Amino acid sequence: MAIGSTLKWEGQQLATWYFTVAMVLFGAQLLMGLIAATQFLYPSFLFEIFDFSTARMVHINALVVWMVYAMVGAAYWLLPDETGVEIVGIKLAKLGFMVLTAAVTVVVLVYILVQYGPADMMTIWFIGEGREYIEAPRWADIGIAVVLVGFLLHVFLTAIKGERTGIVTVLMADMIALVGLYLCGMGFTDSISMDQFWWWWVIHLWVEATWEVLVGVFAAYGLIRIIGANRQVVEMWLWIEVAMLFGSGILGMGHHYFWIGTPEYWWEIGALFSALEPLPLVAMFIHVTYDWGKQSGIAKGEGEGRQVIANTPALAWFFSNAFGNFLGAGVWGFFHTLPQVNIYTHGTQFTSAHGHLAFFGAYATILIGVFYLAVQGTNNITRLRATFDSKMAIILINVGVFGMTVALTISGYGQVLVERAQLGATWEAFFVSQDALWFVQGLGWRLVMGVVTLVGFIYLAKDLLSTGKYAIHER
Ligand code: HEM
Ligand code: HEM
Ligand SMILES: [Fe+2]
Repeated sequence: MAIGSTLKWEGQQLATWYFTVAMVLFGAQLLMGLIAATQFLYPSFLFEIFDFSTARMVHINALVVWMVYAMVGAAYWLLPDETGVEIVGIKLAKLGFMVLTAAVTVVVLVYILVQYGPADMMTIWFIGEGREYIEAPRWADIGIAVVLVGFLLHVFLTAIKGERTGIVTVLMADMIALVGLYLCGMGFTDSISMDQFWWWWVIHLWVEATWEVLVGVFAAYGLIRIIGANRQVVEMWLWIEVAMLFGSGILGMGHHYFWIGTPEYWWEIGALFSALEPLPLVAMFIHVTYDWGKQSGIAKGEGEGRQVIANTPALAWFFSNAFGNFLGAGVWGFFHTLPQVNIYTHGTQFTSAHGHLAFFGAYATILIGVFYLAVQGTNNITRLRATFDSKMAIILINVGVFGMTVALTISGYGQVLVERAQLGATWEAFFVSQDALWFVQGLGWRLVMGVVTLVGFIYLAKDLLSTGKYAIHER
């Protein structure tokens, strides 16, 4: 049995380092979420020691950072396979990882130990910029940008040296956009409207354009690896998805410009283009199921191809992605995207319901799938089957997050009715609705489902660490 790293490429070894840090931060994210969720119900919990604002801040920043880590890792994982060459400048790339990880550690320690500072430039430079999701202080912000530009160079130089498949070409173009957009969140202005305007360029255009394209890239690569999908078909889908994602996602950003002080024409632009955004998500869903359906036809002997699923847990997570992306981003996003609806739902727990299912369904799922591909490669396993732990992980995490989403949707619905529709969105109405029975019950269930999610995560971590021992090395 081939245990231990038998990796041919150093780039893939580096990818596993990124994945490891990503999993640690994922765990930290869940713990912070549980603290914040407890504080919703028992506001005195850790009062003035570790306030809600800090727990929430670390929860969502850890989320963004673990996903970026996993995405960078995934790029380093697939590049050598696709291009047939080692990552160019691999030693520097490893150094970049160390610098980035040291910086992230310092930033997290400052978040947890210092928490906040006075409203001056010192705080912006050394504690946090106060921009939701991308709060890193300016020194780290600049450092992150430098490491990301370095990463871009490694991707490009490797792609230029090796074979440029369709998957690699899309990855190259998308990485320019992804890294470039990060820079939009780095400026500083006194106007909160202008600040929000540019902040959304990072947040919206990341999750509704460039990150989604990466999902397409990972799904294409993964489906070829796992079920031996036809490269031509997979890459054709990829180009269609890219066109649709950018076609709707860029102006779809208008759905965040309804109420921040931007001109009113954004109502129409935002309504129209964001309403089109679910279409590429439907396309992505069809893509995965189509490939799978076609492949099972092949397995029945209707054609040629690989007869087995090379990695069952990864495929299961890829399916979770197809469903989760469609439901969390497409359906839950569409619910509140028209200004006529959003004027009631804006900033309620409904938004949080969508945020949870979308981030989880669209990104956490596929990235976990890629972790399983890496476990397979690292342990040199021909066919990776599901274990008891991997099944517990996928069931509990999916049930947990979907359960949280439903609970938050009910709370949000109560808020919309009582606070917004019935009592007219006054300051007092906010507090009345916070005490309403349905609202509080929903938050109770969110906490319960959060614990279910955490238990699932523990199974996942255990499974990823131990899978090599149970695998079947057949040809
Ligand atoms: C994977 C893709 C997506 C992710 C990860 C995502 C995530 C989020 C998150 C976290 C927020 C809350 C932002 C905040 O803190 O203010 C948000 C807001 C919003 N999202 Fe999405 N989203 C995605 C796709 C979509 C799609 C496709 C639509 C529409 C079709 C949509 C519509 C909206 C709207 C209208 C808001 C504003 C909510 C409000 O006014 O409070 N989202 N999204
Ligand atoms: C143990 C499980 C979890 C618990 C208990 C939890 C709890 C929370 C709490 C209490 C908040 C603050 C909400 C507010 O300000 O009203 C929050 C925000 C958020 N969480 Fe979680 N969370 C968990 C897991 C996750 C997961 C798995 C994801 C995504 C992969 C996620 C993504 C988010 C996002 C995007 C926000 C910001 C939402 C917004 O601004 O609308 N959380 N979470
Ligand atoms: Fe958006």
